[in-house]
Amino acid sequence: MKAVRIHKYGDESVLSYEEAPMPVLEPDDVLIRGVAAAVNPVDWKIREGYLRQMIPYDLPLTLGWDVSGVVEDVGARVSRFKVGDPVFSRPDIQRNGTYAEFVAVRESEVAPKPQRVSHVEAASLPLAGITAWTSLFKAGGVQSGQRVLIHAASGGVGSLAVQLAKERGAWVAATTSGRNSDFVKSLGADEVVDYQKVRFSEVLRDMDMVFDTLGGEVQEESWKVLKPGGILVSVISPPPEDRAKELGVRSAFVFIQPDAEILKEMADLLDKGRIRPVVGAEFSLQDVVKAHRLSQSGHSVGKIALYLGMP
Ligand SMILES: NC(=O)c1ccc[n+]([C@@H]2O[C@H](COP(=O)([O-])OP(=O)(O)OC[C@H]3O[C@@H](n4cnc5c(N)ncnc54)[C@H](OP(=O)(O)O)[C@@H]3O)[C@@H](O)[C@H]2O)c1
Repeated sequence: MKAVRIHKYGDESVLSYEEAPMPVLEPDDVLIRGVAAAVNPVDWKIREGYLRQMIPYDLPLTLGWDVSGVVEDVGARVSRFKVGDPVFSRPDIQRNGTYAEFVAVRESEVAPKPQRVSHVEAASLPLAGITAWTSLFKAGGVQSGQRVLIHAASGGVGSLAVQLAKERGAWVAATTSGRNSDFVKSLGADEVVDYQKVRFSEVLRDMDMVFDTLGGEVQEESWKVLKPGGILVSVISPPPEDRAKELGVRSAFVFIQPDAEILKEMADLLDKGRIRPVVGAEFSLQDVVKAHRLSQSGHSVGKIALYLGMP
């Protein structure tokens, strides 16, 4: 099968579109013929070797951890899926990924594909959607009527987080550049702060939750806008707990895991038209270098999709 693999860590020149062996199915695995994958910042972070201490990969490694496609085969213990089922998944990041014609994924990490959207749109949801859902609802406990600030709201995670928080009934403030302000408003944000013109910590206050997708100075400034007892949730670096205590607020760090239950909830919201996928760019698998450059620029809008082939 064709796949994009890396044989060593490095810049985008290490991405190799090549012939790779078919995945070997474990008894609990579903073999998915991928129609579309998506590019996430973690893909180029792994490519560069930033996560090598945390996850000691055996190279070569197939990158990519979002997929939408059709079940091609099932392992001996698989009971919920059969050949031909349309499915989507955010597979285990410790295994070979989805920049490939076929990928083996544990049954527990797979969910039926939402019906109202294309495979390209469905592939844009799992990793970013699980991140937004886990951060807002599981770590952040966001409820109807609360005030939430979402950073980088025009990005892959942020564009879903705005929609999910609004769907839950929260009042949503968001940061992005002026170029993307109207887009973020169209996702439902109540107040949009152009980070290139205004310091968000000077115009926002009394937040129940801040969702930090940027880290560094943005995380540092975010403490200032929380109300007493509010929570700062980061997906970039653990906000210091002693700082939170000192300020009378809470903090959490999220590093997501595969979660088919969240995928089912999101598929349901999509099929009911309550949230929408945002695919800002689409590339073929052969053009993965362009897709990585765009992701690494830090200024892509919504998700970057990779088209893999016909179902
Ligand atoms: N811990 C976890 O489990 C986990 C899971 C998923 C993602 N993440 C991390 O979360 C981060 C976000 O992921 P993503 O997929 O959403 O990234 P992304 O799609 O690449 O985000 C790009 C967006 O960020 C916006 N942006 C850049 N600088 C900004 C600033 N200073 N203020 C406000 N917005 C800014 C850009 O808007 P403009 O072009 O308008 O500037 C752009 O639309 C990544 O670092 C990723 O690795 C962590």
